Amino acid sequence: MKTKKQDFSHLSPNQPIGIFDSGVGGLTVAKEIKRLLPQENLIYFGDTKHLPYGDKSKEAIIGYATRITEFLLEKNCKAIVIACNTATANALKEVLDLVAEKIPVIDVINPVAEKVSYEIHTNVGVIATKATVNSGLYKKSIRKHNKFIKVDELATPLLVPAIEEGFKNHPVTHSIIYNYLSNKKLKNIETLILGCTHYPLLLEEIKQFYGNRVRVIDSPSIVANQLKMILDKHHLLNTDNSGATYQFFLSDLTKNFEKISRKFFGNSIDLQLKVL
Ligand code: DGL
Repeated sequence: MKTKKQDFSHLSPNQPIGIFDSGVGGLTVAKEIKRLLPQENLIYFGDTKHLPYGDKSKEAIIGYATRITEFLLEKNCKAIVIACNTATANALKEVLDLVAEKIPVIDVINPVAEKVSYEIHTNVGVIATKATVNSGLYKKSIRKHNKFIKVDELATPLLVPAIEEGFKNHPVTHSIIYNYLSNKKLKNIETLILGCTHYPLLLEEIKQFYGNRVRVIDSPSIVANQLKMILDKHHLLNTDNSGATYQFFLSDLTKNFEKISRKFFGNSIDLQLKVL
């Protein structure tokens, strides 16, 4: 990825961090950011009107991701976290072209691929949306650092709709998980990357399928740590203790989003409809 000349001297630590995803998935990353960086003000955009991104064309995903990025920039964000693998895999270059000179951009694939390639030396499986698997970005990014790792990717498109429907601990979700994870592509894996930010919401069910046979990578925590490192490097970590603010914008208000965001961030959060 080509890096442009960056100048972040105009930014200040108390500006918010912008986070976006197609829906509730990015909340798994936002929750980890809140845990690791409790002083940071967060603005989250959930593009619920257009989900699932995983079945959309690259052009459509680029359009959504760049519009949201512009919106977060208008909201005065000091950094953007693309908390969506599908948007990362299909629109990272366009998002970087738009804002990388002005603010840091953190994605959810490169930091995970880098960490896995240095720490894991086994067969790695990736489950993700169709648009992420088709991009081949996980395989490319992991093999860029370590060409000896075998990476098997499998598209698991029914998981996002099940999660957005709130089908946790539901027989339908159990049978989807069972069917996907039994696929012979994943037969020999020893490590699994959840290549969609929605999937950690089914972490228990996925771990139950494997028992202790497979290590499941904690991607939200890797991404939150990467964000912390980058903010620190640019002297942009917020040290103000007066209480962080959390704002949520949704392109369509859904009950499930409300439920999960309140569960992670408390009842007093501000949810607003915003169609871009
Ligand atoms: N949570 C997203 C991802 O990480 C998008 C899922 C979707 O909308 O299909 O890929």
